[in-house]
Amino acid sequence: MNARVSYVDFPAQHKSMRAEVRRAVDRVLTRGNFILGEEVEAFEKRFAALCGVQHAIGVANGTDALILAFKALGIGAGDEVITAPNSFIASASSIALAGARPVFADVGPDLNIDPERIERAITPKTRAILPVHLTGRVADMDPILKIAERRRLYVIEDAAQSVGSLYRNRPSGSFGVMGCFSLHPLKNLNAAGDAGAITTNDGALCEKMKLLRNHGLRTRDEVAVWGLNSRLDTLQAAVLNCRLAHLDKTIRRRRQIAARYRRALSNVVECPAEAPHEFHTWHLFVIQCDRRDELQAHLARHGIESKIHYPIPLHLQPCSLALGYHKGDFPVCERLAGRILSIPVHQYLTNAQVDSVCKAIRQFYKRKA
Ligand SMILES: Cc1ncc(COP(=O)(O)O)c(C=O)c1O
Repeated sequence: MNARVSYVDFPAQHKSMRAEVRRAVDRVLTRGNFILGEEVEAFEKRFAALCGVQHAIGVANGTDALILAFKALGIGAGDEVITAPNSFIASASSIALAGARPVFADVGPDLNIDPERIERAITPKTRAILPVHLTGRVADMDPILKIAERRRLYVIEDAAQSVGSLYRNRPSGSFGVMGCFSLHPLKNLNAAGDAGAITTNDGALCEKMKLLRNHGLRTRDEVAVWGLNSRLDTLQAAVLNCRLAHLDKTIRRRRQIAARYRRALSNVVECPAEAPHEFHTWHLFVIQCDRRDELQAHLARHGIESKIHYPIPLHLQPCSLALGYHKGDFPVCERLAGRILSIPVHQYLTNAQVDSVCKAIRQFYKRKA
């Protein structure tokens, strides 16, 4: 059965910008400038402006953005990086792949890392804090930046889910020494495949990242450092330049949908909040509820897709075994893992579709509007 309310709608996205994307792709194919070049540079300039920083560096994906950020800062063997246990695996795997040790600190009810828990997780080996702005809501950056300053730690933002989000009027990606973005198809600003970007105000780091993403090549023939092949693909940059022009509209519509959900569902399930100093971009709309799995099955019977971000906390993943964590180590995160449900919030939903999701949820808990 076709979902009546799908979780994403790529055909609708393509329909809304088909002509401009085709023209942009055609330009690259005609010119044959497939590696770096004008489209990538144009995207980097626009993306830096969007994030309120001096520099943006396009890379192959959000995971590489994180790995390259650690490498550029010399974070590796013997070092620890503190992050949240309720994220996508890349928040932790990037730390491990850079050679360092992921250390988790529990989250608060806002799903983001709890600054007090960060403080307790710091050891003499800690080099950096990696807050994840989960769902498009920026982590509580004031106390995090204070801790980092006092303890002389780097802050690197995992901004994979938070393009365009604000905290006290400052854009995500502008708080840390670097911000790491994913531009994966499922993100609010999405390529037609894998893509990512790093933001920074540090010119020297920007130059280093540009080397690191391109084999360490200083010139065509001279290699300055061991680098990766992790350039932002030029075709993807061309697509992203088109999509960037629609981002305001995308975020505006997601915010309208989130407001509609919150009006209709706040007395039925726990809805995500937005404080006055926050500007949430609603990459995900995550409700917290009892009998979550039954609700998900009920929604599926009504043709409504939903997802769980994420059902297994990072410290309990098989790949984390050697880190020595156990069930019960992060009670808030573990409780959330059994209660969270991401309901559709993509920008192409109609109000009628949003209302049908609300109706199905109210019906499940037998609550009248
Ligand atoms: C929080 C978080 N960090 C990192 C990543 C990794 O990004 P990518 O899939 O572009 O490598 C993602 C992507 O899903 C993410 O959601």
